[in-house]
Amino acid sequence: MPRSPDLPSVALPTDKELVLRVVPMPGDCNANGDIFGGWVMSQVDLAGCVLAMRSAGGNRMATVAVKEFIFKQPVRVGDVLSFYACVTRVGRTSVTVDVEVFAERMTHQGQFVKVTEAVLTYVAIDAQGNSHPLNSNSAVPTAPAEL
Ligand SMILES: CC(C)(COP(=O)(O)OP(=O)(O)OC[C@H]1O[C@@H](n2cnc3c(N)ncnc32)[C@H](O)[C@@H]1OP(=O)(O)O)[C@@H](O)C(=O)NCCC(=O)NCCS
Repeated sequence: MPRSPDLPSVALPTDKELVLRVVPMPGDCNANGDIFGGWVMSQVDLAGCVLAMRSAGGNRMATVAVKEFIFKQPVRVGDVLSFYACVTRVGRTSVTVDVEVFAERMTHQGQFVKVTEAVLTYVAIDAQGNSHPLNSNSAVPTAPAEL
């Protein structure tokens, strides 16, 4: 089946940190031959967790909520997926992270299409799995780290 053309290439975010880069494999495909949305969602959860755990100052974290995934472009085998994230809120027990995902096609290196974006909330939990106040040294990063 012919593939729909990509939307124009976009600039990568400068206000977020690159927290994960991964290449999906054939085993991650759906029945159409594109990458399964659930696989992308799990990678977004992992990417958001990188910053949540850093902000949580050593607490165990669990994902409590994810706001709306919209997939504007398919992800294909061999794309390089880049996950950019920033912490948007540190609460009493929770950390909220915004994650944006960009695909670099194998055939168009140096060009990026935005695949999806989601806002995820992680909660610090104690040994019993109950919500637990974050450590006092938790902080919202003010700028993306240098790569
Ligand atoms: C995480 C868990 C311990 C939280 O317990 P809870 O009693 O539901 O949550 P609380 O009412 O104590 O709220 C804890 C924090 O989560 C936030 N929160 C709860 N529900 C939320 C929602 N739907 N959206 C955004 N934040 C939410 C609260 O605002 C609060 O944040 P704050 O303290 O920083 O203000 C519990 O819901 C749980 O065990 N969930 C399963 C987690 C899990 O297994 N995740 C993997 C999915 S398979």
